[in-house]
Amino acid sequence: MSRQKFVDRERELAFLEERYSSGDAELLIIYGRRRIGKTELLLRFARDKEHVYFLASEKPYRDNLRELQRMMGKSLGDKLFSRIEFGDIDELLIEFSKRVNGRRVVLIIDEFPYLIERYKPVLSLIQRAWDMELSKSDLMLILCGSSVSSMETEALGYKSPLYGRRTGQWRVDELPFWSLREFFPDYSAEDLVKVYGVLGGIPAYLIRFDPEKSFDENVIERVLSKGAFLYEEAEILLKEEVREPANYFAILQAVAGGRSRFGEIVNATGLDKSLVSKYLNVLEKLGMVEREVPVTASRKEALKRGRYSITDNYLAFWFRYVFPNRSYLEAGMGREVWERSRGDFNEYMGAVFERLLRKPEVFTRLTGFGFTKIGRWWHKGEEIDLVALNENERKVLFVEVKWKELREREAMGILKDLKRKAELIGLDDWGKHYWLVAKKVEGKETLRKEGWLVWDLGDFEAL
Ligand SMILES: Nc1ncnc2c1ncn2[C@@H]1O[C@H](COP(=O)(O)OP(=O)(O)OP(=O)(O)O)[C@@H](O)[C@H]1O
Ligand SMILES: [Mg+2]
Repeated sequence: MSRQKFVDRERELAFLEERYSSGDAELLIIYGRRRIGKTELLLRFARDKEHVYFLASEKPYRDNLRELQRMMGKSLGDKLFSRIEFGDIDELLIEFSKRVNGRRVVLIIDEFPYLIERYKPVLSLIQRAWDMELSKSDLMLILCGSSVSSMETEALGYKSPLYGRRTGQWRVDELPFWSLREFFPDYSAEDLVKVYGVLGGIPAYLIRFDPEKSFDENVIERVLSKGAFLYEEAEILLKEEVREPANYFAILQAVAGGRSRFGEIVNATGLDKSLVSKYLNVLEKLGMVEREVPVTASRKEALKRGRYSITDNYLAFWFRYVFPNRSYLEAGMGREVWERSRGDFNEYMGAVFERLLRKPEVFTRLTGFGFTKIGRWWHKGEEIDLVALNENERKVLFVEVKWKELREREAMGILKDLKRKAELIGLDDWGKHYWLVAKKVEGKETLRKEGWLVWDLGDFEAL
């Protein structure tokens, strides 16, 4: 396979490089959702450095250990190293660090949670090696694993003593929206937002779409077709990550179908309240689900008025379009399903577009508005898509987001209504600004001349 291009990860690489040149022993914990690009990032970082990359697997612990020892021997250029008998991983690590003495070496243990699953004491053994020797060495030890497995085993979780020894950690997140352009250089801004709505910023998924084909063809061929990677990925992902996938499944299905309140999710799933709350918590930590409260809510209100939604766009799409249509899709009717879903997909994209604009890095880049709080607001049937508050300067930006093509008159009407709704929030003596973002706004320039903030995808293209 030809070497594919590597997109972004500038902040992550800068973080790793900085630690690399710290001059101290490092114990870093790198984690993140499956397929987010952890392994690729670490390989990219290590490739021009002296390093050992070890990928733990579901093999027995002793086999893993032998493999690690072999990799170390190879990196040391010492054939005899792999013949040494070590009692356990602590002795192996200590001996390795002595051998590399004086040189900065990166030691990566990928899929680290597999080791712990096989052999729990590995945690205290590594801790021991760290305390005795590694912490005084020149080693940069990187432990990497996916979020859930790490959290579930508590390996890299807060309670683990090893976690307490870490010198740093980084959660690898989705690629930023702007980097999608590098995957699809010829797509319009509208197409990019749509791709984002189906796949999110997950590199393993983005590379499955063919940039030479249209958005619709990609969806039909690469998601809605039996046998395609993305057709089954959601199921595989959940099964790999969590112990009781059926329950997570039921919850995600309920939320994707628009059940946003806790009580609604409990009813739809028929699961016990405490279980739903536990699972939602895990899904939130994974960044798959988010719980929103009105941006102006007090702490007390916030406890009661939460609304859940799926933040992981791929999962949201999958649970909305693949899962409920399984029988058609199994019969090869992806094209028909997609034709039928057009109207609904527009609605779905409304929520995607809103969520995208609410992302601090996107919001800031587009508006330059400094905020201390950002979120949605709702009260008694009234709703504002996005409210950004700057509590220090007492100013607020109200935003209406429409995945629609608007005429000048419509746009005007929306802005006036936004102004009316904004009055309901109070904030009387604050400086108020109003912003409309839509797919397309006719007469954008005229509205701007009248002092309104109006944006459409044409402005995205220019960025
Ligand atoms: N920054 C990037 N630019 C382009 N492609 C990337 C990038 N990061 C990852 N990829 C590609 O995405 C795929 C998944 O990445 P990778 O295997 O690193 O994910 P991971 O987080 O290690 O996943 P898992 O938890 O399943 O091991 C790979 O094919 C990789 O080449
Ligand atoms: Mg990996």
